[in-house]
Amino acid sequence: MTKKILILTGGGDCPGLNPVIRAITRAAHYSKDDWEVLGSIKAFCGILDEPQKIIKLTNKIVAGLEVKGGTILETTNKGDPFCYPTVKSDGSFIIEDRSDELITKIKKLDVEAVICIGGDGTQAISQKLYEKGLNIIGVPKTIDNDLSATDFTFGFQTAVETATEAVDKLVTTAQSHNRVMIAEVMGRDAGWIALYTAVAAGAEIALIPEIPYDIEKIIQTIKGRIVDGQGFVNIVMAEGAKPKKGKMVTRNCQEKGYHKPLLGGIGFTLMEEIKKRLDVSIRVTVLGHIQRGGTPIAFDRILATQFGIKSFELAERKQFGHMVSLLGANFTSIPIKKAIAKYKCIAPDNYLLNCARKLGICLGN
Ligand code: F6P
Repeated sequence: MTKKILILTGGGDCPGLNPVIRAITRAAHYSKDDWEVLGSIKAFCGILDEPQKIIKLTNKIVAGLEVKGGTILETTNKGDPFCYPTVKSDGSFIIEDRSDELITKIKKLDVEAVICIGGDGTQAISQKLYEKGLNIIGVPKTIDNDLSATDFTFGFQTAVETATEAVDKLVTTAQSHNRVMIAEVMGRDAGWIALYTAVAAGAEIALIPEIPYDIEKIIQTIKGRIVDGQGFVNIVMAEGAKPKKGKMVTRNCQEKGYHKPLLGGIGFTLMEEIKKRLDVSIRVTVLGHIQRGGTPIAFDRILATQFGIKSFELAERKQFGHMVSLLGANFTSIPIKKAIAKYKCIAPDNYLLNCARKLGICLGN
C-alpha cells in the first residue's frame, strides 16, 4: 500500500530549504516501501485554502534543487493555523483558530506523516498540532542559528558567508576614506551571524543582542583607531543589538497575520550616537534579506540533505513529535517540546566570544 508524506516550509526562508525537500523526496523514492510525497504550498495555507494548494513531489520536480535558494513550496510567516488571518466575504478581516479544520483536512489527505521545515515559530505550531494528534516531524531552519536543540541550522553558514563577503568589501572602502563603517546583519535575539562575521572579516567592533553596548567603549575604540583623521573602523552589529541604556529598534508590521515586531535600523541609531561624540565620517549598510537569499554554500547543502534524510527515517519509524538535530557529529532527534523550550543565545563563556575578546575586538562592554 502506498504511504503518503506531506512536506511544508514555514516562517522566513533560508538557504537550504530546497535541498531538504529534495532529500526527503529522493529518500522516499529509493525506499523499499512505496511512498508518495506531497508538498503544501505556503506552509499551512496550502492545506487550508479552498481549493487546496498541494503538489506531488517527484524526483523530476526536485532535480537540481540542491543548489537552489528559497523554497519551491513557498513560505509565509502569516499562516499560523492557531491565529489565522481570514478575510471574510464582506472584505472584513479576523484572526481565528483554524487548527481543528487543518487537522481534519490533513487526515482526509490520508498522510502518514507531516514534515514541517521551520524555525522556532513553526516548531511551536508543530508541537501544538502534535498535542492535538497530528503525526508531525520537525526539521529546524533559520539563518539566525538560535535553536538550542541543534548545534547548527542550515542557512546560517551561507548567511555568514554573504555577510563576510560584504564586510570584506566595506573594509577596503573604509580604508580609502578613513571612515567608520557599520554593517548591520540579521540576528533578532542571538548574535551568531554578527560574531562569526566579525571574526571572519576582522572587524574592530562586534555588537550582539546578548551584550548591551556601552557607547563610551565604542568611542574609545574609534579614537584609538582613527587619529588625526587617519585610520578606519569596521563595526559589525546584529539587528537585535541594543545600547546599555536603551532598547532594540523595532517597528510594527502592518501585514495581516504577522505577529512579530520588525527589526532593522539600529545601525543608524548607533551612527547618530557616535556623531554626537566624534567628528568622524560614518556610513551604515543594512544587509537585510540578502543574507537569506541565494544559493546555499556546500556546508548548508550537505547539512540540509542530512536533516532531510533523517526526517524521512523518523517518518519511517513513526517517531512523531520529534525534531531532527545535529549534536556534535551525530544526527539525532529530540522531542519538539524540548527543542522549543529555549533559545540558543551566545553564552558568556562561548569560545568564539572568548577568541574575539583575545583578538582585541571590542564587544561594547
Ligand atoms: O528569523 C530570521 C530572521 O532573518 C530575523 O533575523 C529577521 O528579523 C527576520 O527573520 C525577518 O523576517 P521577515 O522580514 O521575513 O519577516
